[in-house]
Amino acid sequence: MVRCRGYAAAVLLPTARGNKLLWGYSEDMDPELQEVFNMLVSSGINLYDTADSYGTGKLEGRSEQLLGRFLDEYPGSPAVRDDVRIATKLAAYPWRLTPKQERLMWDGLVAIYEEGLVDAVGVSNYGPKQLQKIGQYLDKRGVPLAAVQVQYSLLSRGSDQMAVKAACDDLGVALIAYSPLALGMLTGKYSLDDPSSLPGGPRGLVFRQVLPGLAPLLDLMGQIAKRRGKTLSQVAINWAICQGAVPIPGAKDMAQAKENLGALGWRLSDGEVRALNEAADRVPKAMVQNVFQTQ
Ligand SMILES: NC(=O)c1ccc[n+]([C@@H]2O[C@H](COP(=O)([O-])OP(=O)(O)OC[C@H]3O[C@@H](n4cnc5c(N)ncnc54)[C@H](OP(=O)(O)O)[C@@H]3O)[C@@H](O)[C@H]2O)c1
Repeated sequence: MVRCRGYAAAVLLPTARGNKLLWGYSEDMDPELQEVFNMLVSSGINLYDTADSYGTGKLEGRSEQLLGRFLDEYPGSPAVRDDVRIATKLAAYPWRLTPKQERLMWDGLVAIYEEGLVDAVGVSNYGPKQLQKIGQYLDKRGVPLAAVQVQYSLLSRGSDQMAVKAACDDLGVALIAYSPLALGMLTGKYSLDDPSSLPGGPRGLVFRQVLPGLAPLLDLMGQIAKRRGKTLSQVAINWAICQGAVPIPGAKDMAQAKENLGALGWRLSDGEVRALNEAADRVPKAMVQNVFQTQ
């Protein structure tokens, strides 16, 4: 479910990923997160992504609660605050456990729209076929489908993701690109030669599989970044913008959030995008794709 209207770009808070295992969130990060949120809102970032599942165990619901509190306590102009859109996602039990009753979920989206609870609806991890189906279904019911959120980056641009993009263009739906930094690998800051630079947990496992073949792409990104006075992260996020997507990079602290803001206000050239795509095509082991994405 997405509540959004007229967004420009989005930068995420670590809380939006919520859980301790994957992202190392702890409650003592909250004051800095609030400062990051205030800085981003004041800088014109008006879309914040979250989900009912961001924050597990005793932290269940934490991400949504924090975003709600930060929004309420935003110290700047009320007009700026009112322009902020919180995009949240939910997958209701028991249907989140089986694809068989998806039509009931779609009817649920129609209901929340008709009740005026949301401005528009969206879906996540939908493949091209399913996206066409729901697009037609919601259209018949008079409900605007605003966005589809899928994994999309220089390391997630296989035929499936390209078909999702084509379906989005066909339906006039925004593609929200999650993990645009490939969980951080496209920042270039992790090195297999320095195991202490690698994150722990499941993310570390993915990095060990993908990083060995990434050097040529990261080198090219580094050359482009140097020529333009940018960073690798900014190049990766800008690439997603150049595809017509709305990237939602996760930022862990103030420094990362400020750096990611520098992805806005300029464009890679067509030639640079082409060269990046070609280098990405040559990466031997692509990012593992989300197993929940449908056909
Ligand atoms: N719908 C879905 O199924 C789904 C799935 C995944 C994500 N999402 C959404 O997409 C958002 C972003 O995706 P993501 O967090 O998975 O991946 P991401 O944006 O590709 O990577 C985020 C990580 O990159 C590193 N990073 C970010 N900016 C940096 C910078 N400027 N310099 C250095 N490192 C930087 C940080 O790693 P370190 O922590 O190592 O510093 C950060 O935790 C999530 O917050 C979530 O809202 C949705």
